[in-house]
Amino acid sequence: MSERLGVAPWTAAVPPPVLLAAGEENPMGSESPMGSENPMGSENPMGRPTDARDRPSLLGRPHPRVEGAAKVTGVALYASDTRLPRLAHAALVTSTIPRGRITGFDLAAAEAVPGCLRIFTHRDFAGAIRPVKHLMAGGHANSGHRPLDSDAVAYAGQIVALVVADTVEAAREAAARALVHYRRDDFADGFDAPGSETVRLADLKPKHHDPRCGDADAALAAAEVTVAARYETPIQHHNPIELFTTTCAWDGPRLTVYEPSRYIGAVRHGLAAQLGLDPADIRVVAGLIGGHFGAKFALAQYTAPVALAARALGRPVSLVPSRRDCFTIANYRPETRHDIRLGATRDGRFTALVHEAEVIASRFDPFAMEGTDVTASLYACPNVRTDERAARVDRNTPGPMRAPPEVPYLFALESAVDEMAHALKLDPIALRRRNDTLTDPISGKPFSSRPLMACFEAGAEAFGWAERDPEPGRMRDGPWRIGLGCAASVRPVKIAPATMRIGLGPDGRATVASAHHEIGNGITTLLALGAAEWLGLLPEAVTVRLGDTDLPAAGLSGGSSTTTSLLHTLAQGCESLRVRLAEAAVAGPLAGADPASLRLESGRLAAPDGRACPLDMLVAGLDPGGIETVAAFTPEGSGPEALEAIESGRMALGTGAGSQAVSWAFGAQFARVQVHAETGEIRVARLLGAFAAGRVLNPLTARSQLTGGMIWGLGSALLEETILDRGHYRNADLAEYLIATAADAPEIEALFVPDPDDTVNPLGLKGLGELGIIGVNAAIANAVFHATGRRIRALPIRVEDML
Ligand code: MOS
Repeated sequence: MSERLGVAPWTAAVPPPVLLAAGEENPMGSESPMGSENPMGSENPMGRPTDARDRPSLLGRPHPRVEGAAKVTGVALYASDTRLPRLAHAALVTSTIPRGRITGFDLAAAEAVPGCLRIFTHRDFAGAIRPVKHLMAGGHANSGHRPLDSDAVAYAGQIVALVVADTVEAAREAAARALVHYRRDDFADGFDAPGSETVRLADLKPKHHDPRCGDADAALAAAEVTVAARYETPIQHHNPIELFTTTCAWDGPRLTVYEPSRYIGAVRHGLAAQLGLDPADIRVVAGLIGGHFGAKFALAQYTAPVALAARALGRPVSLVPSRRDCFTIANYRPETRHDIRLGATRDGRFTALVHEAEVIASRFDPFAMEGTDVTASLYACPNVRTDERAARVDRNTPGPMRAPPEVPYLFALESAVDEMAHALKLDPIALRRRNDTLTDPISGKPFSSRPLMACFEAGAEAFGWAERDPEPGRMRDGPWRIGLGCAASVRPVKIAPATMRIGLGPDGRATVASAHHEIGNGITTLLALGAAEWLGLLPEAVTVRLGDTDLPAAGLSGGSSTTTSLLHTLAQGCESLRVRLAEAAVAGPLAGADPASLRLESGRLAAPDGRACPLDMLVAGLDPGGIETVAAFTPEGSGPEALEAIESGRMALGTGAGSQAVSWAFGAQFARVQVHAETGEIRVARLLGAFAAGRVLNPLTARSQLTGGMIWGLGSALLEETILDRGHYRNADLAEYLIATAADAPEIEALFVPDPDDTVNPLGLKGLGELGIIGVNAAIANAVFHATGRRIRALPIRVEDML
């Protein structure tokens, strides 16, 4: 866990280590994508100019992740690594029918497996787990459905029994021998299936509005040039290396849950509501998270049954589900389809956009992706009509997966824009430039910054777009047809409230603690750098603790909001500590100085006149045990109710609603593909993205986030698809569910485009966890069209599409 990450305490004798000065080699070997320059300038992110005596800012420079060594040497602990005395092991039995009733169990053979302790079914748990609403509906759960509450089966792969045994092997063996008898009912599993229920999104989600302006249908009828097509994206499933596990241990009335979750507060409070416990009696520990990208979302359905089993057996119980189980006991990206009609003048100005979208939802939860807020506002267009619908079917509830709406919705729009460019015989970047806008056509508000075309220009230059023959099918390299394609990536900025304890010890060390999560994005590193920067310490003098509900409350890791939310919280807390120290100093060693002028730097509190006072002495003078503060940050436009939401494990992720502007992060994606003229094999030879996401605090981890997303985007274009067959996911394993591997990953580059945005929030941060994946699928599909003249409108694009 993060506690072991702190290294030796800072003393003046220790030379400053990992920090890279301009132009220096990165000890990790990867290059700074910024070169040696920080394009955001070197001013202090709290808004004060850097004092000439200050070292270069720690923020804005590449810094290796502080838990990196622990991760690569295997000593880093994840929740799934939890081992406890007398631990019993659980395995799941899941339904083999898509819908119906359980008519009986035949468990004798299972119970006879040596080591099998007990098999729990709805006969044990009916009524024992109280309903909890979906997180998006004001509750805590990733699904309101309760699988072990009755004999009803609502979808294939639903949990119908929980086997507990002395060993993992015995639990799995017994689960395999458990027989469940069913009565089958009719079911609807997808779009157009008889019995599916199509509803307007506004009927499913009360806050939803379909963005509109002008009269799109009339403008479309009058348009000089039109493009109309249907685009489709498939089901995709989360497959993080760390599975969807939980371990529950009771100590009298107190329950500790070790679970990889990206919202441990929701697990704690949701479980308390389900089991009728006081939240104060539940502690959830996540440690480091072995991948989530949208999974591990809120309270899962398996946690309460495992907790109840642990209580019944008087032993801690751990569940490590199979990879196959993870396709149905958690959430996934559902299939979508889009009817897009785009009208333009002959010189390439958009006059009409109609986007009718349909997504899959479950029967019992209000979760549905909504994405036309982005497609309706991306380009200047006076007439826009969008309609979003959801088809409710007999499946487990979908959920967020990295850039949940933008990945499918921008595949559709950015493919249609490419089709329009072809119809108009215009370069696709020139068409986008012609329809660029500084104002959101729907709300009429300005964008807080809008460097979209700067991204296209920087990307085109670095990628060599000028070499592209405008006519499809003409670029060749031996047997390969070559295609170049591009697409936009955009993502609204999100920000959440958070609380955080920041302490300074009499030894001059700092601690930063919050019930947030290290999901692999590098937030531990940024918190260490930020605290060091603002408290005038070396990063090694900072200990960061995350992933434990005993720490001050924070919200979920999602919506690319983590850095934005937590760094503002940290800055606020560090400033309050500085003020306290400054007030103490002017009453003593720095008498006569203006407290506002005192700066924390190099382990001292320094005055502009050159006087300074050692930090450890000041701290010890205030309190021999050290001082601390709990910062409570709320974004602009939200009040105390936002803090109440995170204190009670509910959703509090917003856009900073007080803003007079629309704030997005931007990017331009470029792909070079080669399609074999005879076999149809498709290879992506190169991906390049140019991104503008406000101030970039650690270019090294930021670049890693972006390139990782781009590789997933490649998978989204060419590989990833869950096959649905009569209600079942048929390829629910990593042999048949294809993901992009190292061998698929091409030459890949992520560039940063300066985006100084001082109105989005005080630190100018936009977040970029999701930006890298968005638009890659469209850029690749557009490149395939450019290579072959074939427009593939349903993902993934496969060899057979080329024949
Ligand atoms: Mo998201 S996929 O809610 O970060």
